[in-house]
Amino acid sequence: MKRALVTGITGQDGSFLAEHLIGLGYEVWGLVRRSSDTRSCDRIRELTDGKVKLRYGDMCDSASLHRIVGECKPHEIYNLAAQSHVRISSDIPEYTSTVNGTGVISLLEAVRNLAPEARFYQASTSELFGSSPPPQNEETVMHPRSPYGVAKLHGYWSVINMRESYGMFASNGILFNHESERRGENFVTRKITRAVARIKLGKQSSLELGNMDALRDWGHAKDYVAGMHLILQHDRPDDFVLATGIARSVREFVETAFAHVGIDIESNGKFTIDEVYHRVDTGDPIITINEAFYRPAEVDYLCGDASKAKELLGWSPQVTFEQLVEKMVVSDLNLEG
Ligand code: NAP
Ligand code: GDD
Repeated sequence: MKRALVTGITGQDGSFLAEHLIGLGYEVWGLVRRSSDTRSCDRIRELTDGKVKLRYGDMCDSASLHRIVGECKPHEIYNLAAQSHVRISSDIPEYTSTVNGTGVISLLEAVRNLAPEARFYQASTSELFGSSPPPQNEETVMHPRSPYGVAKLHGYWSVINMRESYGMFASNGILFNHESERRGENFVTRKITRAVARIKLGKQSSLELGNMDALRDWGHAKDYVAGMHLILQHDRPDDFVLATGIARSVREFVETAFAHVGIDIESNGKFTIDEVYHRVDTGDPIITINEAFYRPAEVDYLCGDASKAKELLGWSPQVTFEQLVEKMVVSDLNLEG
C-alpha cells in the first residue's frame, strides 16, 4: 500500500486531498499543528476515526518534520502547509517567510535525508506571477507582489534546486485560485457566499469588500487536488500550471452570488472607494467598500494557461464558475439556516 504524507491536511485542499488519496487506496498521514481549539480539525473530522494517521508538527520546527518523515517513510509527500492569506502576509511577513519559504527547505532536507526516493509535491501558486500579464503559464516571468508571493517563490525555487542538485522527484503545482464550500471565511469568495446566505436569511444587512475589480481564475478545489496527485504520477518531476483559463472579477462573483438567491443589487457606478451597491427592493446599501481590505500591492489579473497539464497529465477542471458559486451559496445557506 502506498503511503502519502500531507502537510496542511486540516486546510481546504488538505482535507479534499486526504479524501481523494484514501479513495485511491493510500495510507494517509497528516501533519497537524497544535491549536488551542480542536475546531482546526473540523474539515477532517470524519477522517480522524482511524482513516488518517495524524502527528503533531510545525513547518517552523524542522526537528518535528524530520521525525514525521522518518516515522512515516512516505512514498509521496504533499506540502500544502502555509500561511496562505495574501493580505495578512503583509502584517506578518517574517512568519510567512519562515513557514512558506524556509519551511519548504526544512521539509525537503528531511526528505533528502530520510526518504530520498519519495516524490515531493510543492503547493506553488499563481501569486508567483504577480504583475506579469495573462495568460500565465510555466514560462511566464514571475514577479510576486506580497510577502506571501515572495516566500512562495523561495519554496518554488528550492524544489527546482533539489531536483537539479540531487535528482529528487520534486515537482511544483502552480495552482490558480480554487475555492469550495470548505474555503476559509476570510478569502473573498467564501466571505461573499457566507454574507449572501446571511443576508438572504435576514441575519446580516450588508457586506464590506475591498478591490472589486481584481480578476481571478477560479475553479473548484476538488478538481485541483486530483491534479496534485496526477503531477506526482507523471514519469518525471516537473512544474505544472493548473487553471480554468477563464478569469472573472470579484464584482462578477458578487453579482452571480446575489442573483443566485434572487436579490437584485445595483451599483451607484462610482467604481472607487465611494462605490455602494443598493438592494433594488428596499434601496438599502448592501455592499460598501472599505480600504482596509485593499492590499499594499495588488495582483490585478490572473488567468492561467493549463495546456501543459492537459496535454501531459490529461487534467482538466470539471466545475464551472457558475456551478462553483452555486455550490458555495447553497452550502452556506444550509450552514446558516
Ligand atoms: P488553507 O485552507 O489556509 O490551509 C493551510 C494549511 O496549512 C492548514 O492546514 C494550516 O493549519 C496549515 N498550516 C499553516 N501554518 C502552518 C505551520 N506553521 N505548520 C504546519 N501547518 C501549518 O490553504 P489552502 O487553500 O488549503 O491551500 C493549500 C496550499 O496551497 C497552501 O500552501 C496555499 O498557499 C497553496 N495554494 C492555494 C491556492 C488556493 O486557491 N486555495 C492556490 C494556490 C496555492 P491550521 O488548520 O492549523 O491553520
Ligand atoms: N480576502 C479578501 N477580502 N479579498 C478581497 C476582498 C475582501 O474583502 N475584497 C476584494 N478582495 C480581492 C483581493 O484584493 C484579491 O484581489 C481578490 O479579492 C482575491 O482575494 P483572496 O480571496 O484573498 O485570494 P488571493 O487571490 O489573494 O489568494 C488566494 O489565491 C492564491 C492563488 O492565486 C489564496 O488562496 C492564496 O493562498 C493562493 O496562493
